[in-house]
Amino acid sequence: MIIAPSILSADFASLGRDIEMINGSEAEWIHCDVMDGVFVPNISFGFPVIKSVAQMTEKVIDVHLMIVNPQNYVGAVRDCGAHIMNVHQEACTHLHRTVQAIKNAGMKAAVTLNPATPIVMLEDIITDLDMVLLMSVNPGFGGQKFIDGIVDKTRRLRSMIAESGSKALIQIDGGVNLQTAPVLAEAGADVLVAGSAVFGAPDPAAMIARLRACGRL
Ligand code: DX5
Ligand code: ZN
Repeated sequence: MIIAPSILSADFASLGRDIEMINGSEAEWIHCDVMDGVFVPNISFGFPVIKSVAQMTEKVIDVHLMIVNPQNYVGAVRDCGAHIMNVHQEACTHLHRTVQAIKNAGMKAAVTLNPATPIVMLEDIITDLDMVLLMSVNPGFGGQKFIDGIVDKTRRLRSMIAESGSKALIQIDGGVNLQTAPVLAEAGADVLVAGSAVFGAPDPAAMIARLRACGRL
């Protein structure tokens, strides 16, 4: 199991300290949540912050764009030092073109589905994807309650990926904690994003290790 702490729940006045914590932890990725106040009802941070984070870590930089017109920012995301560019299916009219542009820029291409978007929306592009992110909360805020139906959606996505021959990883984002992580591991998740569970813990690095161990159960 790969754990991707979401810095949305970090202390932005001490972001360097929080990145050092992740650097010393078992997390393999750093999840960066970009919100534009249009696609989602919140605004977070943008490219200068991601660039600074990327410069102080060897971890994989996983950029989750909760923005309209993400196709306009492929070069900007790459220039930040991102390894994975994650766009919402709901924000992309020409998803195939956007996925190809991400790959041509040298990044891994990931597509996110909101809770109400069915996995069939990705059926004709699944073999082109490096990862599918299933939102397990409605995007926009950390600290929300996990939507239980996403466990079955994870199982169905796992079957779709297996049947297609796709190598796509399954990532889950929202409400991941010590209760939901083992269930998600069993359902076939490969990568878990965790914001409030990690940064709200007394010992964040220990929480990352405990979440990661849920994949071994
Ligand atoms: C939500 C973001 C998440 C968020 C998860 O819109 O995409 O990555 O940080 O936060 P938790 O883990 O607190 O649900
Ligand atoms: Zn996210």
